[in-house]
Amino acid sequence: MKRYRVPTVAGSEITPESIYLQRRHFLRSLSLAAPLLASGCSRGEETAPTAAAGPVGKPLPAPRSERWKTDEELTSWNDATQYNNYYEFGTGKGDPARNAGRFKPQPWTVEVAGHAEVTGRFTLEDLLKPHALQERVYRHRCVEAWSMVIPWVGIPLGACLARFKPTSRAKYVAFTTVQRPAEMPGIAYPVLDWPYREALRIDEAMHPLSLLAVGLYGRELPNQNGAPLRLIVPWKYGFKGAKSIVRIEFWERQPVTSWNIAAPTEYGFYSNVNPTVDHPRWTQASERRIAGNGGNLFARRIATLPFNGYAEDVASLYAGMDLRANF
Ligand code: MTE
Repeated sequence: MKRYRVPTVAGSEITPESIYLQRRHFLRSLSLAAPLLASGCSRGEETAPTAAAGPVGKPLPAPRSERWKTDEELTSWNDATQYNNYYEFGTGKGDPARNAGRFKPQPWTVEVAGHAEVTGRFTLEDLLKPHALQERVYRHRCVEAWSMVIPWVGIPLGACLARFKPTSRAKYVAFTTVQRPAEMPGIAYPVLDWPYREALRIDEAMHPLSLLAVGLYGRELPNQNGAPLRLIVPWKYGFKGAKSIVRIEFWERQPVTSWNIAAPTEYGFYSNVNPTVDHPRWTQASERRIAGNGGNLFARRIATLPFNGYAEDVASLYAGMDLRANF
């Protein structure tokens, strides 16, 4: 059993207080409900189940992008797949890996709706078919002030969306994720307003950095990482990365999002990584980088960069906007 060190940010600091209290209730309930849960009770927020040493799962070979990469040390497979946020499987970092075994990501369909010329239900294969998979090494910054460096496999989100021919009324894109209480023990608890919802402005969604990911480290996404498809928007806090997407809808008005509903003063719609805008209860000026084999255990604090280091690519999307008001 690998045990993770308690992070330097206290558990009480990393979620809104109301959700933190629900989480304590949730963890208590989980241990009470332990016999009912396939994978046993939660043993604490920072412990994770024993993991495979290296990448496992179906191989997804994809050439590494020369344009979208970083030379920074990669996070280990183990940390990237055992230290997760996926509240539908529980609120502890080890819960998704521990509780996601029953989840069935195949077969999968995605409904496309709203202001677009082409709408309807598409299989995952349909959605990906015209596009070649590529690998991109991105920095991944969580709002809780930890970060990873992960080689994702996927297709540009914009290329996928363009195919639906969004109309001029499509100003935003909303993503709804799967809600399957029988396979997702966390949904029994009102931690968030299920289903999990996220959204982007259309130009953010069409930006070449935005990725529709289906794998990591050359393998299909494990359930806990958002199988079979999820968003990766590397200049924003990780919660914009909706996992296990079942619906894509083009909206004229700004859609509601789960974290924004849960705590509007703590999680704004834009959620761009911004070291000068602290979370109300902790600093965003630095982050705990979980990288290398020492990973979590030896995570060091490093300075957080504006737009998570992607300012050169994306700052122009926000020209003229007050990013303190639009956090
Ligand atoms: N998607 C769903 N459906 N449910 C979730 O709870 N958590 C988000 C995001 N996507 C979440 C989700 C948060 S808070 C983060 S930081 C990232 O997933 C974490 O992705 P990772 O576990 O692959 O690092």
